[in-house]
Amino acid sequence: MEALAAAMKEAASEVDQALDALLPAEEGEERALFAAMRYATMGGGKKLRAFLVLEGARQFGVSRQSALRVGAAVEMLHGYSLVHDDLPAMDNDDLRRGKPTVHRAWDEATAILVGDALQSQAFAVLAAPETHSDPGVRVELCLALAQAAGARGMVGGQMLDMLAEKATAPLDAAAIGRLQRLKTGKLIEFSAEAGAILGRAATPPRQNLCFYGREIGAAFQIADDLLDLTATPEEAGKATGKDAGAGKATLLGLLGPERARIQAERLVAQAKSHLDNFDERADLLRALADHVIRRKN
Ligand code: IPE
Ligand code: IPE
Ligand code: MG
Ligand code: MG
Ligand code: MG
Repeated sequence: MEALAAAMKEAASEVDQALDALLPAEEGEERALFAAMRYATMGGGKKLRAFLVLEGARQFGVSRQSALRVGAAVEMLHGYSLVHDDLPAMDNDDLRRGKPTVHRAWDEATAILVGDALQSQAFAVLAAPETHSDPGVRVELCLALAQAAGARGMVGGQMLDMLAEKATAPLDAAAIGRLQRLKTGKLIEFSAEAGAILGRAATPPRQNLCFYGREIGAAFQIADDLLDLTATPEEAGKATGKDAGAGKATLLGLLGPERARIQAERLVAQAKSHLDNFDERADLLRALADHVIRRKN
């Protein structure tokens, strides 16, 4: 198997083990909540954000256990964003990772609570002493994730995404770029930077990882939009062919598939250029940049 595919598969299974240890066991009266939290995070998904944390951490010799906890925390936050994104009030989707969405398998109230609880648990994991011996590092992780996830990050981007569906005039490239940087880019950027925070890295390598994350985040959302157009639901594990009809503001809609793909390729090349001063330990990050636009799900 190709080195990147093998490394991503191994990382996904380690992250699933970490999630298993960090999420409440399915017992007690609230066990439906706990079961749905596990369902939304474990045993599916590419775990790309956690992989970024692990590979970023590798650059600075951070312990695997610290990196896995932060990777699991990011996947909790991401899982929450997907559970809420799929709700009828948002994208109204029935299929996620090849399975019924949480509000379908349980109900809407459970899905809302699952998102809330996954978000809280993500911060609890980052703040716990087991994540890093230095409380300053733990606070920095919490602050960076809060900024990436909140009103000026993912949630703000989701708001722009919803507003764009109802807008009378189509968004221009700058507005779509901003929307996508927030809804998808910020969390991917945090994931790329987290290893540098854990490793108390100096400014230049930390910033380079940040810029790398920003560019692959933008490329990643273009690829997601292209998959909505080209992939089958079986391949993607989620409904496809919906974005245009739903009035989603995408670069793909604005530029068409060919120019959108060229733009994504440009972003990937830029992403890799930010790793120019990194040694061969960053080869998987380089390969990942190419993969985000070639992926089939
Ligand atoms: C889907 O993210 C949501 C977007 C930001 C486009 P992923 O494609 O990473 O979803 P999973 O985690 O692999 O299911
Ligand atoms: C979702 O973007 C971004 C999030 C913050 C969850 P999409 O709505 O395009 O993601 P999919 O296609 O449902 O995975
Ligand atoms: Mg959405
Ligand atoms: Mg969606
Ligand atoms: Mg999509």
